[in-house]
Amino acid sequence: MKTAILPPNETSLFLAKRLIERGEVVAFPTETVYGLGANAFEDDAVRKIFSLKGRPSDNPLIVHVHESFDYSELIDGEMPYVKALKEAFLPGPLTMIYPSTNKVSGLVSCGLNTLAIRVPSSPAAQAFLRAVSLPIAAPSANLSKHVSPVTAEHVFEDFEGKIPLILDGGACLGGIESTVLDCTGEVPLLLREGLISREMIAKVAGDCKLYRLQRGEKPKSPGLSYRHYTPRCETSYYREDELTKAKDTYLKEEANGGEPYFLCRSEILPALSGMRAFDLGSTAEEMAHRLYYLLREAEKRATLLIGIEPKIEGGASGGVLNRMRRAFGAAE
Ligand code: TXA
Ligand code: MG
Repeated sequence: MKTAILPPNETSLFLAKRLIERGEVVAFPTETVYGLGANAFEDDAVRKIFSLKGRPSDNPLIVHVHESFDYSELIDGEMPYVKALKEAFLPGPLTMIYPSTNKVSGLVSCGLNTLAIRVPSSPAAQAFLRAVSLPIAAPSANLSKHVSPVTAEHVFEDFEGKIPLILDGGACLGGIESTVLDCTGEVPLLLREGLISREMIAKVAGDCKLYRLQRGEKPKSPGLSYRHYTPRCETSYYREDELTKAKDTYLKEEANGGEPYFLCRSEILPALSGMRAFDLGSTAEEMAHRLYYLLREAEKRATLLIGIEPKIEGGASGGVLNRMRRAFGAAE
C-alpha cells in the first residue's frame, strides 16, 4: 500500500472520510501528538489499530470527536463537576473518562465499562473530525512502546506502506499526550499527567486526586503499566546533581568510538563544556513541545543518549517528568 502524506484540505479530507467509512485507518494531527484513527463503531476498523501498532489488547483507546459532536448517547451520564471542566478546558488536551453505554465497539475500551472521550482543539484535528462526523478511536500514531509522533514524518517512519493516508498538519504544538482524567467518581482522578495539570483541574473541579498504581494492583489505566516512549538507542539517566558521573559516562562512550549526546534543559548546557547535547529549553511547556521530537532525533544520531532530569515545577512539569522517566526506563 502507498502511504500518502497530504495537508488537510477539501480533497484530502474527502479522501479521509471515504477511507474511514470503508473501515480504513487514517493518521491525523492534534495539538498533543499525531493519532491513528478509525471508526469507533466498527470492530474490524478498531482491530486494525491494535494490530498495526502491536498494541496489547488490554490497553483501551480514546474516542475523538469534534467540538459540536453530541456524544451524550455514548456515555451514561456525567458527574456534576464535568460541566465546569468542559467549559474550562475543552476543546483541548484533556481526555475525560465516563461510564459507557457500550454503543461503540467493545474493542475500544477492551471490555471496561467506561469510555474515554477527547475533543482536540487543533484546527486540523477539528477539520478531520468534522469531515468524517463519526467518533474516531485513536491512540498515538506510533508503534507500541516507541516514542509518540509529533510530525507527519514520525508517523511515516513507523507506518510507511501500512496505512493509506497521513494528514500533515505540521509539528504538534503541545508535544506530549493529553491529560487523562477518570470522571466516574465523586472526585476526578488523574490517570495520566499532561499539559493540563492536577492543580489546574482541582481549581475548576474543587478537588483532583492523582492516581498511583499500588504494587500488585490491576491498573485503572492499563497503558500505565507498560514501558513507553522509548527511543531506539542506548540510554542512561542522571539527576542534575550527578553531572560529574554523567560526564564520565559520556567520555567513556566516546572513548569506545560511540557518539553520545546529552538531553538536558538549557541552563545545564554551559556546564557541559562543548559536549554534544539536545536542548530541552527552559520551561515545562517548552520541554513538552520538544521532548518527543528530540528523542526521535536522538535515536537517529546518538549511540548513547544521556538524560539529565530537569529541575522543574508547576504547569506541565508533572507530565514532562513522567514521560522522560518512562522514556529512560527510570519510572518508579
Ligand atoms: O493526546 C492524546 O491523548 C493522544 C492523541 C492522539 O489524542 N492519544 C493518546 O492515546 O495518547 P494513547 O492510546 O496513546 O493513550 C491513551 C491512554 C492509555 O494510557 C489508556 O490506557 C488510557 O488512555 N485509556 C483509554 N481509555 C481508557 C479507559 N476507559 N479507562 C482508563 N484508561 C483509559
Ligand atoms: Mg501512546
